[in-house]
Amino acid sequence: MSKRFVQAIKAEDVAPGGMKNIDLEGHEIAVCNIGGIFYAIQRRCGHMNAPLERGTLDGKILTCAMHSAQFDATTGEALSGPVPHDFKGETPPPGMGRYLMNVAMLMELIKTNSIRTYDTKVESGVVWVSIRPDRC
Ligand code: FES
Repeated sequence: MSKRFVQAIKAEDVAPGGMKNIDLEGHEIAVCNIGGIFYAIQRRCGHMNAPLERGTLDGKILTCAMHSAQFDATTGEALSGPVPHDFKGETPPPGMGRYLMNVAMLMELIKTNSIRTYDTKVESGVVWVSIRPDRC
């Protein structure tokens, strides 16, 4: 099956080191600009579906804003799972510590899956995305 590229976003709208979410024919996609090269990934985190463009991009390492799972934004590979909340030495409010311990225990049971990637190309300052996933 040949790939069908769809016009996604102006390249200038995604700053280097930045991410933008787009909805492309029903596909929720985050476009990442890594050193001037554009990558398109599934927008939803492979852990619990948080919007990945709300996270941070450090080189090709994308960290989810919700529980800090990390992904390689160039391949979609899950690099690490969620990280329990760090109170940085502060004591959580009464009752909150037990609640967060339960959440942390449950999070360990939820697998962090790799995320889908999509082929991209840039033509005349526009990022095009192939909406047929490279892999599932
Ligand atoms: S939803 Fe992304 S790390 Fe949990």
